[in-house]
Amino acid sequence: MRKAVIILPTYNEAGAIEQVINGIHEAVQENKNWEIHIIVVDSNSQDGTQEIVLRLIKKFPRLQLLQTKREGLGRAYIQGFQTAFEKINPYLIFEMDADLSHDPNKILEFLKKIEEGADFVIGSRYIKGGSIPKDWGIHRKIFSVGANLVIRFGFMKLRVTDWTSGFRAIKSWIIKKATPHVKNYSGYVFQVAILDFAIKNKAHINEIPIQFRDRVHGESKINSIQYIVQTFLYVFLNSSFIKFALVGLIGFVIDFGISYIFIENLKSAVWVGTFISSETAIVSNFFLNNFWSFAHKKLDHKLSAYLPNFIKFNVVSSGSILIQTIGVQLASNFFGRKLWYLYKVILIVFIIIPYSYVLYNKFIWKEK
Ligand code: GDD
Ligand code: MN
Repeated sequence: MRKAVIILPTYNEAGAIEQVINGIHEAVQENKNWEIHIIVVDSNSQDGTQEIVLRLIKKFPRLQLLQTKREGLGRAYIQGFQTAFEKINPYLIFEMDADLSHDPNKILEFLKKIEEGADFVIGSRYIKGGSIPKDWGIHRKIFSVGANLVIRFGFMKLRVTDWTSGFRAIKSWIIKKATPHVKNYSGYVFQVAILDFAIKNKAHINEIPIQFRDRVHGESKINSIQYIVQTFLYVFLNSSFIKFALVGLIGFVIDFGISYIFIENLKSAVWVGTFISSETAIVSNFFLNNFWSFAHKKLDHKLSAYLPNFIKFNVVSSGSILIQTIGVQLASNFFGRKLWYLYKVILIVFIIIPYSYVLYNKFIWKEK
């Protein structure tokens, strides 16, 4: 029988914790394939949460309490994971809110997905069948939906619909491997960090719909401003796509600057200046992408890896120069040349960026 541990982080959840623990026991009773344990990680609640858990431990032998300092949700999870590995050594770990927002009856569905081969199952509020509470205020709705869209597009991983969900089943090997990466994220952003790490490490991700219920007891501990800032910062610093776009911008500045120096200051022939500047930008883009944007898939450190890929990179880049040249000319013929820079911007955003990003990923910085 495989072991699974459900981690329940709590801070002042006296009104809900008993019902959550009872609910989990009832929900998993029927299952024969898994030995299920619960670890409540309580960060010094002041409302009697721990007393309730200690009382329930007498009834449920597979229930434990871990007492920690209050250092944020991410820290609580990391400490819970460590205790689980030391004391239980499970195959699978669940993350779950302890305020009744997550329905324990979904647990078997998560387990089924794992049995079918998934490594990381997300309870999603944003796929068919999933939902957020209808009575959430407009701010909270916009925030939750918006944050997920920013993360999905920021990482260009559109297939994962709920990045911030706190109801998940994750295989232990992923958590063990991810710990050095995620241990610096002590707050709610931890959720985004561990999922990003899992995807970059080719975990097989799956989603099941969940209906998120608003808490009835106690209050949310989320600090929205801090959460928004940390989440956006995380995406900004960890997204290949955003880095790739910045490299493109740097390339543009280099290209333009060098052309200007050659043509205006050195009075070189226009084609000479243009050729030198665009090739310099291509070289710099190639290395910046290799060591920064796509650092997690960087090329092997030998000439036989660099040379063919550098040639491919030149071909892709020439393609984008060609698309721009023809595109801007055609648009100017149709709509007049006055707005040529507008056509260029539109072409870059809607054609050049997706074109190069897809080709780089497919042919140069491939998944290993
Ligand atoms: N031990 C511990 N320490 N537990 C904590 C802490 C902490 O510092 N902060 C929060 N928790 C516990 C809460 O007691 C609750 O059981 C769970 O973590 C979720 O916290 P809530 O305060 O209820 O979060 P929320 O409902 O506002 O946030 C929801 O959305 C987030 C973003 O989408 C949850 O579903 C989160 O899991 C999710 O990340
Ligand atoms: Mn909650």
